[in-house]
Amino acid sequence: MQRLADEARLAGRRIGLVPTMGYLHEGHLSLIDEAKKRADVIVMSIYVNPTQFAAGEDLATYPRDLARDEKLAQGRGVDYIFAPSDKMMYPEKQLAFVEVERVSRLLEGEFRPTHFKGVTSVVAKLFNIMKPHVAVFGQKDAQQAFIIGKMVRDLNFDVEIVVAPIAREKDGLAMSSRNVYLSEKDRREATVLYRSLNLAGSLVGKGEIELVRVRSEMLKLITAESEGKIDYISFVDPENFERIEEVGSLPRVLALLAVRFGKTRLIDNMYLNAHGS
Ligand code: PAF
Repeated sequence: MQRLADEARLAGRRIGLVPTMGYLHEGHLSLIDEAKKRADVIVMSIYVNPTQFAAGEDLATYPRDLARDEKLAQGRGVDYIFAPSDKMMYPEKQLAFVEVERVSRLLEGEFRPTHFKGVTSVVAKLFNIMKPHVAVFGQKDAQQAFIIGKMVRDLNFDVEIVVAPIAREKDGLAMSSRNVYLSEKDRREATVLYRSLNLAGSLVGKGEIELVRVRSEMLKLITAESEGKIDYISFVDPENFERIEEVGSLPRVLALLAVRFGKTRLIDNMYLNAHGS
């Protein structure tokens, strides 16, 4: 893969990378479309990275189907698939890691304290292996996308980060490989996440500036219409991912939530445009 990357670069071809953990859905495929707009050679990595899972998380049961993924990815225009084994990625005990401080400890990081260190470290490795000019990530994992952007800026990685919009099912549920874990009842109820984000969008759009009030309306809706257990409903300034409690003078804020349905933890987010912007 490294040799292929060097040859492509030498030939003056732009390399676009779409990093994934596989079990592809339309959300991943839409990332390929974005990469194709910006690069000549499209590489998709498919790797369920163990270092971003904590003990007790779903590493062992994470859905996998490489044959199906290869067909889907190639059908959408991927030129090369990089699906390394753990031995290839971690041939010896790894002692070097990349960590983006502070933001990695908030929100998802409060519930998964070692997660983002695993993500940034493996993404740094993938960048060094594939040498992409551009890499595309999904807005579904908004905090991850922000953290990777910060890593790239702070450490001068020579790669452009593109964040593609969330792909949703017809009823609004954000596409995720983990949706397959949901029972029929949980799958039905999980649509409340999108509805709660839309509710937040309409409240802020109408001029509500107190985000505690927005949070409490979202909470009411989610608890009335589902048995989901809320890990967090938070609002951040999208420029720095600092938590905010008031819209203030921001043109838009980012609302993020994580809710557990049975054993399945779903996350979603939405930009809320402030009144008059
Ligand atoms: O978002 C993902 O699928 C993973 O976190 C990533 C970026 C491929 C790193 O393992």
